[in-house]
Amino acid sequence: MCGIVGAIAARPVAGILLEGLRRLEYRGYDSAGMAVLDQGTINRLRRIGKVQALADACEQQPLPGGLGIAHTRWATHGKPSEQNAHPHMSGEGLAVVHNGIIENFEPLKQELQQQGYVFTSETDTEVVAHLLDRELQGGFDLRAALRNTLARLAGAFALGVIHVDQPHQLLTARKGSPLVIGVGIGENFIASDQLALLPVTDRFMYLEDGDIALLEADHIQVWDAQGQVAERAVTTFERSQGSAEKGEFRHFMLKEIYEQPRVMQAVLEGRIASGHLLEQAFGAAAGAVFDQVKQVQIVACGTSFHAGMVAKYWIEEWVGIPCMVEVASEFRYRPVVLPRDTLLLTLSQSGETADTLAALRAVQDRVLATLAICNVPGSSLVRESDLSLMTNAGPEIGVASTKAFTSQLVALMLTTIALGRRHGLSGERETELVAALEQLPGLLQQLLALDGPIEEMSAHFAEKHHALFLGRNVLYPVAMEGALKLKEISYIHAEAYPAGELKHGPLALVDKEMPVIAVAPRNGMLDKLKANLQEVRARGGELFVFAGCDQSIQAQEGVHVIHLPALPAVLDPIAFTLPLQLLSYHVAVLKGTDVDQPRNLAKSVTVE
Ligand code: G6P
Repeated sequence: MCGIVGAIAARPVAGILLEGLRRLEYRGYDSAGMAVLDQGTINRLRRIGKVQALADACEQQPLPGGLGIAHTRWATHGKPSEQNAHPHMSGEGLAVVHNGIIENFEPLKQELQQQGYVFTSETDTEVVAHLLDRELQGGFDLRAALRNTLARLAGAFALGVIHVDQPHQLLTARKGSPLVIGVGIGENFIASDQLALLPVTDRFMYLEDGDIALLEADHIQVWDAQGQVAERAVTTFERSQGSAEKGEFRHFMLKEIYEQPRVMQAVLEGRIASGHLLEQAFGAAAGAVFDQVKQVQIVACGTSFHAGMVAKYWIEEWVGIPCMVEVASEFRYRPVVLPRDTLLLTLSQSGETADTLAALRAVQDRVLATLAICNVPGSSLVRESDLSLMTNAGPEIGVASTKAFTSQLVALMLTTIALGRRHGLSGERETELVAALEQLPGLLQQLLALDGPIEEMSAHFAEKHHALFLGRNVLYPVAMEGALKLKEISYIHAEAYPAGELKHGPLALVDKEMPVIAVAPRNGMLDKLKANLQEVRARGGELFVFAGCDQSIQAQEGVHVIHLPALPAVLDPIAFTLPLQLLSYHVAVLKGTDVDQPRNLAKSVTVE
């Protein structure tokens, strides 16, 4: 995904911009560029490939000056090339960097071309540069020009703008894409992620959607979406927030569980706008691929496999095309039958899991296209796939995957919507799904309030050696993930069953030593699940039920119930996951195991 850095200072900014770009490399990109204003002239350098190629070019051709913008581009409109790399200019006097997608760029481009503007790139961004120029020609100052331009743009974006006539000002705006202002002493900065600016400041101002900000070296002014002057608080970045540190948390796993509200925001940012999905977030070629797909084959390992299992329910229900899911270590070693118009969807937190990579390599020439959903840009899986969608969860240190899983689920829901749109999913349904996704950060925050009751519940498991997880429908894979978490970190043997399978075997194991954890569905299957639970109780089994807020399951002797807050049904798999993560965490703490590095397990399994 694209990254933006900008700076206004009394000292040369090229080095600051380059370092910022290096720190944004994790977002994934294919070209890099920079424009710096010096004595009335904007000098621009752009290179395809790594930031280092841009740094080498800067060595040859230094860019002096105290006002500049820089960018790493991840192609969405037009191939990776120097011409398509940012910054984009209108004439010699104005330069723009952009992260996000301008959905209506085609009609805007036609309009501008008719008025004589000549486009030198295939990007949507160049439209912004020329729109700004047209407003400036109409007599508006840069801020008014930016406001008028934003009013014409549909989509999600963050922008940085400089102009030769305003050599002491850096303009910025955001709507739906990340952008933070770094507050320095006598110098100020912008970036897509605060990590880019940590070498120069630890004070940050977060813009709200629709904000425009004007940065001078010693002053920052912000206007809100209505054009009113707005105050935005400056917060100091605590080094302990660094993702490689535990901060106040006892374990990385707990920290990562608690990060999930923020992670939900990160995975949605730049992917949805005005109640619908931005398909271009999947890359320039995605639309054509999604049109032709007739079935989906998902391949993954471990927790990622469980995310794939959830997606099967979503894809078959909302898209109406077949979806198969298989663990990579099986898939890679058998003669699989794949119709040509299959989309191969690989899921991996690390992007380096040996079996998943081998599965991709084994069949990539036999399918329509390959799509990787991954947390590590630039990983092998991403590099070798046709399309990719990053989960933006940030580094996950705990071996037991938590935030990586829930971010995969969100990415998979976005993928399902993108596919569905090409296969008859109605606009209203899409709006409904997107509206539900927008509630996720707040919802997960509410779910964290269950931590206390779940910690209490965990005491019942400390002395147990086995546990059974039950779920139905889309919550069956969630039960599987719950069982995996418990066995990974507490070493309690745990199995998950679709609740309807209970009497086909596992019921024989149920007695008072076998706690049964049920994730209770809200749909018509509740009564069936209740019958299964009766079967457990009748055999002396102790029940632990996670239920929706409106479900009539009451606590009684041997039945412990935790009700989740009200939430849209489509979010059930994400919402019910979080309490199960907390349960296994607290059980592991009680048992005194090594929570973050459980015995015999590795975070990234790069060998067979
Ligand atoms: C290992 C990890 C799991 C992970 C699995 C797949 O087993 O311990 O947490 O789910 O690998 O990893 P991936 O990076 O492909 O998602």
